[in-house]
Amino acid sequence: MHIFSHEETKTFHLCNDEISYVMTVLPTGELAQLYFGRSIHDRADFSHLLEGAVRSHSAYPVDGEPFLSLEHVKQEYPSYGTGDFRQGAVELLQENGSRISAFVYSGYEIMAGKPALEGLPATYTESPDEAMTLIVTLVDQVAGAQLQLSYTIFREGGILARSARIKNCGSHTLRLERAMSLCLDLPDCDYDWIQFSGSWARERYPVSRKLTVGTTAVESLRGHSSHQQNPFVILKRPDTTEAHGEAMGFSFIYSGNFSISAQVDPYQVTRMLVGINPEWFSWVLEQGEAFQTPEAVLVYSLNGLNGMSQTLHNLYRTRLVRGEWRDKARPILLNNWEATYFDFNEEKLLQIARKAKECGVELFVLDDGWFGARRNDRAGLGDWVAAKELLPEGIGGLSRKINELGLMFGLWIEPEMVNPDSDLYRAHPDWCLHVPERTRSLGRGQLVLDYSRPEVVDHIYGMLYKVIHEANISYIKWDMNRSLTECWSAGAAPERQGEIFHRHILGVYALYERLIKAFPHILFESCAGGGARFDAGMLYYAPQAWTSDDTDAVERVKIQYGTSYGYPVVSMGSHVSAVPNHQLGRITPLKTRADVAYFGTYGYELDLNRLSDQEQQEVCRYTAFMKENRELIQFGTFYRLQSPFEKNVAAWMVVSEDRTRAIVGYYRTLNTVNDCFTRLRLQGLDPEKCYCVKDMGSFYGDELMNAGLVTSERASEKQGGTVLSSSDFSSHLFLLQANE
Ligand code: DGJ
Repeated sequence: MHIFSHEETKTFHLCNDEISYVMTVLPTGELAQLYFGRSIHDRADFSHLLEGAVRSHSAYPVDGEPFLSLEHVKQEYPSYGTGDFRQGAVELLQENGSRISAFVYSGYEIMAGKPALEGLPATYTESPDEAMTLIVTLVDQVAGAQLQLSYTIFREGGILARSARIKNCGSHTLRLERAMSLCLDLPDCDYDWIQFSGSWARERYPVSRKLTVGTTAVESLRGHSSHQQNPFVILKRPDTTEAHGEAMGFSFIYSGNFSISAQVDPYQVTRMLVGINPEWFSWVLEQGEAFQTPEAVLVYSLNGLNGMSQTLHNLYRTRLVRGEWRDKARPILLNNWEATYFDFNEEKLLQIARKAKECGVELFVLDDGWFGARRNDRAGLGDWVAAKELLPEGIGGLSRKINELGLMFGLWIEPEMVNPDSDLYRAHPDWCLHVPERTRSLGRGQLVLDYSRPEVVDHIYGMLYKVIHEANISYIKWDMNRSLTECWSAGAAPERQGEIFHRHILGVYALYERLIKAFPHILFESCAGGGARFDAGMLYYAPQAWTSDDTDAVERVKIQYGTSYGYPVVSMGSHVSAVPNHQLGRITPLKTRADVAYFGTYGYELDLNRLSDQEQQEVCRYTAFMKENRELIQFGTFYRLQSPFEKNVAAWMVVSEDRTRAIVGYYRTLNTVNDCFTRLRLQGLDPEKCYCVKDMGSFYGDELMNAGLVTSERASEKQGGTVLSSSDFSSHLFLLQANE
């Protein structure tokens, strides 16, 4: 890892064993992008990579430099209006009404490690030798603004973390209308763009299309990252597969409105922009004030989509997630939501917990409905005091009783929300986002608290602190069940209303930070009506996230498969639930439900008392299996093998770091008759090692990765084992252990 800075040519080259990123200062002072990709040799002068031409209708700022037009140059942080007609990274409204800006180079700084971003989630280093950071400073003298572009290259992996900071250094008020976190101009457009789209109960399905001239984009204007689009996009070469080829990931460490776009110009240059959605965003910068963008992470791999995902998994698992739970296998939990919904009392909960304990569960989680007047989803949000009629001794009493059973205790909260039917709302009707004299749109019967106001965050913190402090709470599920509307704050001046979406998210982050600091041992799981805020921003605070409200095993294979492109297995909340499935009505075998849920945090979302004795015994075996294998599953290297979006069969696997153990999850949606012969090519094994595949025999890693593992039923019967049961929705786990 090194950052070269060549003073004479004003060229910067960040590199490690995997990637190089090269920039230079243009004669006009702007910062230009010259190369990003596989690591290359350094040289003092890369200016031959600056491409320009004399073209009709282009504008040329310097007389005597006929080739230098901002329309043709690849740039680092462009703005519209001085010759570049593409979308810019920054837009600054100045006092005279002009939005034209020109940020020109003024200096740089190189430092070991990576500075934190105050109030924002970001990747970090644990020792300064893990990364190097380059901060390039540019100024716009006319606007009186300073821009600092930050680039961190990590020692390991094809990773570059970027952000920008814009400061008002002049004497007039400025209004920032756009401040993206990352801009990357790529020299061609021969890419497939993959986004992760969906809706409630079908989050993060991969959707792919070929880039072509014009703009391709995903965004959220819902106030949170959303079920609909995820702040993560991949560009891959058309021939890139899961195992081979070039792929880049663009991940945004942010939980609010975002935009990720690829604009391909007529010369086939691709401009990638990642950042806070400029729609509905503006930020007033008074003299001396600065705005810090969230961080965007760029990953690059030549080892296919799996290589790209693994780079991101490692980074996020080890240098985004924080705290005690980062490196710990996650407790097997039982959550009462689908077991009881709102219909519970203490005795019922204890009954469920007792059976959970018998079946090997480690953590009991009390979901929605324990507080205020929350007997249904129309009331009570905002009143974080236990309902005495349900829990006579409060959360303290219940947690003690749960602990006495030998279980840890976890609690659900939804702190960003308020029901109009609540004491909080009656006392503070202006504490929610709303516009005076206009309708306050309800979602699930609730309004969104205005977290841009510190006094609101303080109040909720105070209530939650009391509950948590008085009980023994090991886990918190932090839910969020509606998108933001009427995003206006009674606490902000008219000219600052464009800040509220972002200030709201900063308030959410601030509350998380305070609770984490006050209760560092608590494991947080984020949730937003299932997976509507499954983003890298949340992972900084909550090491795991509820992946989806859809707990059907077949649907979950798809959702977890899609989620795995950008997020590690250990971050995915995954539970075995009852059948018929509450979302789909589908009946799947208990074994299949467990075989899917293992590839995540693992838990149960049902009352185990309602299972037959035989099923309860099965559950005990599954729980024991997960305890034995969770280190491998949650911290091993994850490979996608066969996509559920393409075939009737899906498969994935995890491999231990030393490549001596692996588990393959193999899932078939519908049963087939007289089917083709099938083999599954595994990945990530040691070609020289001979692996014993449980019930199948021993095979060398090279055979398993090239010839493949025989998965057709006939062949496996010959080996004395049955791969799949002869029913729909079946699954099999192949357990691999390298022979001594
Ligand atoms: C939505 C979550 O995704 C569910 O798991 C559950 O916690 C409900 N909210 C409770 O209201």
